Amino acid sequence: MIGRIYGTGSYVPNRIVDNNELSKYVDTNDTWIRERTGIARRHVIEEETTSFMAVQAAKKALLQSEVKPEEIDLILVATSSSETIFPCTACIVQSEIGAVHAVGYDINAACTGFVLAFQTAQAYIDARIYKTALVIGADSMTNLVDWTDRSTCILFGDGAGAVLLRAEEGKPCLMAAHSDGTKANALTGMSRHHKAVTSLEDKITYVHMDGQAVFKFAVRKVPEIIEELLADASLGVEEIDYFILHQANKRIIEAVAKRLRLDLTKFPMNLEEYANTSGASIPILLDEMKRNQRFQRGDKVVLAGFGAGLSWAACMFEW
Ligand code: UT7
Repeated sequence: MIGRIYGTGSYVPNRIVDNNELSKYVDTNDTWIRERTGIARRHVIEEETTSFMAVQAAKKALLQSEVKPEEIDLILVATSSSETIFPCTACIVQSEIGAVHAVGYDINAACTGFVLAFQTAQAYIDARIYKTALVIGADSMTNLVDWTDRSTCILFGDGAGAVLLRAEEGKPCLMAAHSDGTKANALTGMSRHHKAVTSLEDKITYVHMDGQAVFKFAVRKVPEIIEELLADASLGVEEIDYFILHQANKRIIEAVAKRLRLDLTKFPMNLEEYANTSGASIPILLDEMKRNQRFQRGDKVVLAGFGAGLSWAACMFEW
């Protein structure tokens, strides 16, 4: 069984902060940010919350799929920046959309979260436990970054994306995933009110990242996991139509394409507009591509996420 994508939706805040505006807050400039990351601007929450954005994206996915909220069995929200620790964001979404028969929970795996949530939903569907699943990625990273740290605050934006999956007979989704907790310190985030009592306090408050370590990890592990995933199905990378990677940095995506010896046109990007929206980046891009009718039935699509944990995951399905 496969969970076929029946509908997608996304939401980004109206407030746009471009690189020039950022240069008023920290010592940076548009040229540096564009050259090192490919980012030109980001959408930043004002009154919005993570759950508000998740609900808006979910409503659009529902509308597009023509599925009734009461038909949904499962709601998964990939987020590491929910405004409440509990209740989980998925239960807030359930209430707001009226998905009265669904069970909902959040998956916190930072930028890898959406791919892991998508895999979880696919596994439930393939096991015939649930038929209809709503998978959302939603994050308000600008709430967690230190706006005085130029090495991290320039990278992130806010948003949410959702996909509505329905069970159909078909080739199951291929999946691979890994974590390496020994490298956890390369990318950490604490809530704003966290009172750390260790000597590392200053370093681990807000988002703290060893940018180069994360960059090297991504460039090595993403091609590796894609090859691992496809080898299991005896597929070559050239048979894949689209590689939809977590939108962290244009140079990471270019390096992955180069390592796989593939044309960059197979690697759609929208990070210039939204920056790194963590768990939301892949579903926002999926929604944009679907609305622009970029997918044909039968297209082979790879999703790949990577980030804090450190963790990385990939999956492949036919559209
Ligand atoms: O979702 C997954 C999460 N994270 C990532 O994917 C991030 C992965 N890493 C990266 O994308 C890159 O490492 C960064 C974009 C964060 C940094 O790029 P880099 O090419 O690794 O730069 P760097 O850290 O080596 O810094 C080069 C220089 C330094 O100055 P010096 O020491 O050479 O004088 C930095 O202080 O650039 C300086 N710098 C900046 N300059 C202007 C660092 N941040 C900025 C800035 N504006 N915002």
